[in-house]
Amino acid sequence: MKALTANELRKLYIDFFVSKGHRQISGASLIPENDPTVLFTTAGMHPLVPYILGAEHPAGKMLVDYQKCIRTGDIDSVGDPHHLTFFEMLGNWSLGAYFKKEAIQYSYEFLTKYLEIDPEKLSVTVFAGDENAPRDDEAASVWRSLGIPEERIHFMPKEDNWWGPAGETGPCGPDSEMFIDTGRPACGPDCRPGCSCGKYFEIWNDVFMGYRKDEKGSYNEMERKCIDTGMGIERTIAILQGKKSVYETEVFTPLIAKVEELTGRKYGENEDDDTSIRIICDHIRTSVFILGDQRGMAPSNVGQGYILRRLIRRAVRHGRKLGIGHAFLSDIAVVVLSLYECAYPELKERKDFIFDELKKEEAKFSDTLVKGEKEFEKMLPNLMKGNSRIISGRLAFKLYDTYGFPIELTVELAKEHGFSVDVKGFEEAFQKHQEVSRAGAEGQFKGGLADHSEATTALHTATHLLHKALCDVLGGYVKQLGSNITAERLRFDFNHPCALTKDELKQIEDLVNEQIRKDLPVTCETMTVEEAREQGAVAQFDAKYGELVKVYSIGDFSKEVCGGPHVEHTGTMGHFRIVKEQSSSAGVRRIKAVLEK
Ligand code: ALA
Repeated sequence: MKALTANELRKLYIDFFVSKGHRQISGASLIPENDPTVLFTTAGMHPLVPYILGAEHPAGKMLVDYQKCIRTGDIDSVGDPHHLTFFEMLGNWSLGAYFKKEAIQYSYEFLTKYLEIDPEKLSVTVFAGDENAPRDDEAASVWRSLGIPEERIHFMPKEDNWWGPAGETGPCGPDSEMFIDTGRPACGPDCRPGCSCGKYFEIWNDVFMGYRKDEKGSYNEMERKCIDTGMGIERTIAILQGKKSVYETEVFTPLIAKVEELTGRKYGENEDDDTSIRIICDHIRTSVFILGDQRGMAPSNVGQGYILRRLIRRAVRHGRKLGIGHAFLSDIAVVVLSLYECAYPELKERKDFIFDELKKEEAKFSDTLVKGEKEFEKMLPNLMKGNSRIISGRLAFKLYDTYGFPIELTVELAKEHGFSVDVKGFEEAFQKHQEVSRAGAEGQFKGGLADHSEATTALHTATHLLHKALCDVLGGYVKQLGSNITAERLRFDFNHPCALTKDELKQIEDLVNEQIRKDLPVTCETMTVEEAREQGAVAQFDAKYGELVKVYSIGDFSKEVCGGPHVEHTGTMGHFRIVKEQSSSAGVRRIKAVLEK
């Protein structure tokens, strides 16, 4: 096996697929635009869903990229040697160009010739078939033709060998996963790829996107079949380097060394300390990527900002646990930047913001901790009056929930005063809370990624009209800072120093409605990002030099780089009405608007 670093693997993968006729595209933002159904980009295919569903991609039918991903399913379980909240995914796509045979052949060639993995160590899984889709004998026979013997081809059910849709509806299909045998002994006679004992290490997933799951839960065969693949960089370099854990690779060891330097502890000596060290490294790394994203944001109490806040606070808490008594997040963030600013130049551009926000949030949370301590002291006299020397789980949870006061500190303080804490009761209260918030988070996925309904499409076109109208009425400096569209309304964030006057709002509404009335044609052209810029198209120019982009024009009124979809004529959109104008954060205004029939 070739012991590649993350930087080397990224390059080798991209170069390999480019040599096979794929076009490299830029990875997308971590924060999906115009998609209210997910908080973060969780797979390389997320930004490509419209194209998998049939839209034409400006860069063609064969694509390759590396994509920043965040999966926050359960942040509180990060800390073991394997979980990560942020990771990078390599992927190659065929949008109707090639299918199973070529995809598997590419995978096999890359794994055995480029990563130099011994074919004898490779095992694969394929879909066993069910009432929705047949057994995947086709994929199995391609693997066989490449020399993988029958005993290393495992047919598995939907739970294991079906990927997607990412939301409730959208593209999905059977997949074929590739595993490396680590040489560790099998845990029992049933041990096989997919087993969690650690013998088999999943390295790559080829998804045969042949179905679209609809709102009724039916799987409909798609006319044009696509390939979506995903290879996690951190996992793959760990296996290539012969490491047991992603935390032992070069993307984590410098972070761990920094924590060791700050705490005087040694990684690998004490399980509790190791867990805290991993939490600190993982969470700061993810926080840097959220803050430093092209659509990055500050910590807050909602959405992505809330996840960010939780990550930062959890890192601070574990820093305190290891004995750090001063601000330290920036010391570790510096190391994250040094590792990633070449692959992700946006981090460099947003350096000041990253450090400012980390420092602010760290200071704020330290205050919270001090306040929590005071609150605890206040409660003491009352507690002392009672007979019980146990602090109830409910009270411990209140300290946690209201003041962000961590349970470990409650236990510690309680002990100092001769109390114990009903930790089980706390955990029950916590669990209940988690279930409620998870239900909320899952609600975010309803509607799926594939929601390109008539209503959202029209609101998307309205967003372009609004953007241009804001520039015309307020000034050319107005830039889109965020956009979120549901079937009911659009939401648009932009830079402007003060509240808009009634008169300005009316002018903007009128201007948009005038364009709707004119029934302007909406047209789309593909061009390089430089041509788009020359033509004065509005864009967040984070695309690579020479990269092809789609430019949508609405008559002569507006021109924007955008992935679509849009209405064909503005006349069908209805009446545009601004329902709210408010502050979003310092210097940022937010408009919510609707289209009425
Ligand atoms: N979309 C597939 C995955 O995330 C490739 O595993």
